[in-house]
Amino acid sequence: MDSKKVHIKSFGCQMNKLDTALVSTSLEQAGFSITENVKDADVVLINTCSVREHAEQRVISHIGHLKHIKESKPDMIVGIIGCMAQRLGDKLLEHKTVNIVCGPAQIPQIAALITQAQEQKKNELAVTEHIRKAVEENENQALEDFESAYSNEDERNPAQAFVRIMRGCNNFCTYCIVPYVRGPEVSRPPETILEQIRKLADNGVKQVTLLGQTVNSYQYKKDSKVWSLADLLLAVNDINGIEWIKFVTNYPAEEYFEDIMHAMADSPKVCKYLHMPAQSGSDRILKAMNRKYTAAGYLELLDKARSIVPGIAIAGDFIVGFPDETEEDFQDTVKLVQKAQYRNAFIFKYSPRPGTTSEKRLEDTIPDEVKQRRNVELLSVQEKISEELSKEYSGKEVKILVEGLSKKPHLNSSEGGNNPQLIGRTETDYIVVFNGPVSLAGKYAWVKITKSSPLTLFGELI
Ligand code: SAH
Ligand code: SF4
Ligand code: F3S
Repeated sequence: MDSKKVHIKSFGCQMNKLDTALVSTSLEQAGFSITENVKDADVVLINTCSVREHAEQRVISHIGHLKHIKESKPDMIVGIIGCMAQRLGDKLLEHKTVNIVCGPAQIPQIAALITQAQEQKKNELAVTEHIRKAVEENENQALEDFESAYSNEDERNPAQAFVRIMRGCNNFCTYCIVPYVRGPEVSRPPETILEQIRKLADNGVKQVTLLGQTVNSYQYKKDSKVWSLADLLLAVNDINGIEWIKFVTNYPAEEYFEDIMHAMADSPKVCKYLHMPAQSGSDRILKAMNRKYTAAGYLELLDKARSIVPGIAIAGDFIVGFPDETEEDFQDTVKLVQKAQYRNAFIFKYSPRPGTTSEKRLEDTIPDEVKQRRNVELLSVQEKISEELSKEYSGKEVKILVEGLSKKPHLNSSEGGNNPQLIGRTETDYIVVFNGPVSLAGKYAWVKITKSSPLTLFGELI
């Protein structure tokens, strides 16, 4: 059989993108080749997200698009992988275009599923039957082997890699589908994580981002020691070649919080950046969301973070229009955003997810126009804060990890001679646009900031 070409498209979060990278390298090692062009592909994989209805709709319309391509290429195999595959299972096979449905826990089988679908000309379904049952040891081991065997550098920026430190989630925030598609929380053994990072560093990776739905609840008992995220950060800090360590996402919880902040303050490589979603500023809504903190408790954690790590940049997530969210609840959220002084906040309109507690028990009472208005209002409050905070960078010299060519070269008006426009990121996760030689991609550089917008800094290479 000649080498089959596979095209993979990712529709989800960083966890989802990491899975895409693992699947790509595993398929290459199994003799497939990866193509950027759908029309060239013998196999098309879509890695999907279920977190909001909109994310799923995009996938369904993409399946419609593939249907047209398949009319002229009837042998093309289409596989749906990831969270939506786990949520909808065989229902996805009702789309005639789809040949393979493979959940997040089954991705180690992907090469075999493709080969079987091609050779036996039948549909393949591989998902977890009881997603909340404790993960079976053999399945856990298969995921561990898969995770550590394949390379997971970011394709666009080979100096950076994602490393999962835990799978699943046990929090059951009432709106959230993640626990039902990613299964129970499991922390990976520290020695495996550290070995993987050493290997990445040997391959030239300089920045690792540790991933988990709630990274700060990482906990692994080994001999008589219980490893926390703080211990892991300190250990990664000692790995030669790694220069920057980031971690996302944090759940606002007291446990380990100070230790983690001290690890950040004491380890020069740990980036001073904390992504810790609040979701709402109303205690009533937080309770209905099953988030286990109050607005005041959340703000105390931010104060603690800022006193232990001066200069820390903080980002958050919010959901507007949760069932029964009154104008007063919403104004409490606005107040929290004003107090929190985030460098950036991600704001989402509540989307009821089938099977979650809020979807089953609470009616989606807030009309879309109201969700939309609250979304816009909160964004504009945050934008002013972001603008003020980013202005503080003007005239400063900052270290960045250069990612490569800018996709939007019109963003910068500064004269760059013959050098093209590049982008990089600060440790506080600002995008920095500047002119410089392409050979800087994947390297650290210093840039003097000359101009700022709420989320982007512009400058000149020093
Ligand atoms: N594990 C992470 C977040 C995972 S989902 C955490 O706990 O912080 C990413 C974000 O999507 C969440 O922070 C939340 O703001 C948003 N989100 C999750 N479910 C949603 C839903 N049903 N409707 C709208 N936004 C949602
Ligand atoms: Fe979802 Fe809550 Fe778990 Fe985050 S912590 S993944 S929002 S259930
Ligand atoms: Fe990520 Fe979406 Fe799944 S946010 S974990 S891809 S439901």
